[in-house]
Amino acid sequence: MSEQKGNGSRARRALITGITGQDGSYLAEFLLGRGYEVHGIVRRASTFNTERLDAIYGDPHNQGVRLSLHYGDITDGAALRRTLDRAQPDEIYNLAAQSHVRVSFDQAEYTADAVATGTLRLLEAVRDYSAEGHAVRVYQAGSSEMYGARPPPQNEKTAFYPRSPYAASKVAAHWYSVNYREAYKLFVCNGILFNHESERRGETFVTRKITRALARIKMGLQDTLYLGNLTARRDWGYAKDYVEAMWMILQQPEPDDFVVATGESHSVSEFLDLAASYLGLDWRKHVKEDARYLRPTEVDFLCGDASKAREKLGWTPKVTFAQLVKLMIEHDLELAKQETTLTKAGHHVAQRGASQR
Ligand code: NAP
Ligand code: GDD
Repeated sequence: MSEQKGNGSRARRALITGITGQDGSYLAEFLLGRGYEVHGIVRRASTFNTERLDAIYGDPHNQGVRLSLHYGDITDGAALRRTLDRAQPDEIYNLAAQSHVRVSFDQAEYTADAVATGTLRLLEAVRDYSAEGHAVRVYQAGSSEMYGARPPPQNEKTAFYPRSPYAASKVAAHWYSVNYREAYKLFVCNGILFNHESERRGETFVTRKITRALARIKMGLQDTLYLGNLTARRDWGYAKDYVEAMWMILQQPEPDDFVVATGESHSVSEFLDLAASYLGLDWRKHVKEDARYLRPTEVDFLCGDASKAREKLGWTPKVTFAQLVKLMIEHDLELAKQETTLTKAGHHVAQRGASQR
């Protein structure tokens, strides 16, 4: 694959906030594959939080390593500004977020700090960095949650009606981005992405919680899965397809905002039906309701209209809903089998407790 060229003749450089997350890890792989030098911001944690990057991580002492990680936090503006100087990015992907909607009701202030003010901090740093003569493009990770109570289909013209501290914070981040584009002529784009899942999805989001638990039930490792609202409908796509759309958005001649979605919506119980059918299980025998997973205000029905992305970017999703569920089930069945083998051999396997969260 030919190398993308940045300033002068050096490889293009991308900086990803949230690189350790589901999307950040796929995006880093995608950009490395296109010849980019990739920089990522990683939070200091008492445990390793770079598991999703294991496949692409290289010892920085070795020659030719094109992935660099920098300690930082979206709540620390001075460190963000310094990281821009170190990484010298041509493109920035702002994916860092407290991204769990239910948790945002418990940690509302922190969610606003990371998601809304965090974006503002990054934009301020970019404004300063650009004023020094650097040409840089910014992708802001917007969300279909911003549409909240608006009926489907939702597209770029649909007014926002957020239903959680997370969604309200994403709306603020969206408008900060539009404002910095208009006020300072910065190249800032909002991607309004509908739900996208994968084998790397965090285990407390409903799809992965289901595939992890049903696979464990199949292997006899657990019996019950506790869930909240099963009637909510989501437009679920595959994360790998969606990170490609992020990149395409930043390659446009002018900065713009795009909805990225499959245009197909399914309820949580339909996801359960399909996932259980791959395993030959009757999920109704195992799923129990637990009110702790309900949200004070729910988003009932998301289904995106991504015609603008199709027409202007040439983007369409490659992986269907049925393929997505299958690949997640196959992956998690393999994990459950490994767990069974270890348990039978007398090893203690830590209960990750997805069904408790
Ligand atoms: P994710 O798996 O939860 O990853 C979030 C990332 O943000 C992680 O790398 C996390 O680091 C990092 N992060 C959290 N708080 C931070 C802080 N204070 N400072 C720096 N980094 C911080 O989320 P995702 O699914 O990849 O989503 C990526 C982005 O797209 C998020 O902004 C999300 O809100 C948005 N989005 C996601 C979807 C979706 O369906 N997946 C749809 C629309 C929009 P740790 O690993 O250390 O926790
Ligand atoms: N997490 C979770 N856990 N959700 C449950 C459960 C449960 O036990 N039971 C039912 N649900 C329902 C939720 O009420 C919601 O209606 C739906 O399943 C999807 O929940 P999540 O998988 O947590 O995702 P989300 O739609 O709230 O948010 C995700 O997608 C957004 C894009 O629309 C996150 O990735 C956000 O960061 C993202 O912006």
